[in-house]
Amino acid sequence: MQTAEKYLELVENYLVQLEFSEEPERLYTPISYSLAGGGKRLRPVLLMLAHGLFSDEAQQALPAAAAIELFHNFTLLHDDIMDHALIRRGKPSVYAKWGENVAILSGDAMMIAAYQLLGKTQSERLAQVLSVFNRTALEVCEGQQYDMDFEEQEKVSVVEYMRMIELKTSVLLAGAVVIGAILGGASEKECQLLYRFAIELGLAFQLQDDLLDSYGEKALLGKAIGGDILEGKKTYLMITAMSHANEEQRAILRSTHKNPLLSDEEKVAAVKAVYDALDIPHLTEQQIGLRFERALAQLNALTLDPERVQRLRTYAESLMGRKK
Ligand code: IPE
Ligand code: IPE
Ligand code: MG
Ligand code: MG
Ligand code: MG
Repeated sequence: MQTAEKYLELVENYLVQLEFSEEPERLYTPISYSLAGGGKRLRPVLLMLAHGLFSDEAQQALPAAAAIELFHNFTLLHDDIMDHALIRRGKPSVYAKWGENVAILSGDAMMIAAYQLLGKTQSERLAQVLSVFNRTALEVCEGQQYDMDFEEQEKVSVVEYMRMIELKTSVLLAGAVVIGAILGGASEKECQLLYRFAIELGLAFQLQDDLLDSYGEKALLGKAIGGDILEGKKTYLMITAMSHANEEQRAILRSTHKNPLLSDEEKVAAVKAVYDALDIPHLTEQQIGLRFERALAQLNALTLDPERVQRLRTYAESLMGRKK
């Protein structure tokens, strides 16, 4: 059994020793650039913690943990194209640095490298792990498509939004946790509880991401503040604001991001002024708190070594109130 910090170290060490070809340079350099660019390593650490609930053989789970992190980084390369995001982890995104075509192809190569790593899974568990991974990967694509569709869709309900973020974000956390559990020898019932835990955790995590996108600190977050507002994203903040707004405020929320007379700073400030007037940051924090509670409640039903469950709980709790 290991702590989250120890697992993080194991994951980092494993990622550093991964070798990619040198040529073509513009295919492989962005992969190392992306992997070396930090990030919280949330998904692989969750995978390792879930594995650690059932097994002490951490080495066994490392290739799958690295595969999940590679897959995550691949989604970010493509996400930054889709969201026109120029900054990621405090540096130019791959899209900004090398352009759209490189970000597409390097992203593709990263996904394939993720499958190469998954291929190292013990043969008796490989089919099950691949099945979870494939379903998860397709669902992430579904979530990303809804995210883009909703930009054009005038009215999006909270239910539709929650389903969208479950697909684009939660399922990858849940897939990571379930793959870790499977590799450790968990039962079907235990996998289900852990799945629900990570789905709720992922909802809290993406709600935080939405809140930080408008209210975070650029230096900590490593992303441009206000990107969601400028892209016309239907975030929890936007949807909640629309449902509380009067006619005048609704007009601001609906059209500011398309106003050619305003600078980006002015657009973000105008929308945030409406959010502030409607107490949206506070309402979002309430929803985040609720989702964290629901996630942690799932863990109470696990009849496993309490110390090991506590490690996972403590890690989940460490994400509350995150600034990056
Ligand atoms: C960013 O994920 C994409 C979302 C699903 C919100 P993270 O916030 O985990 O990104 P890194 O890996 O720590 O940079
Ligand atoms: C990203 O959601 C989800 C995936 C990458 C699948 P966001 O677009 O909100 O993530 P950030 O804010 O760019 O990290
Ligand atoms: Mg994005
Ligand atoms: Mg996005
Ligand atoms: Mg975001």
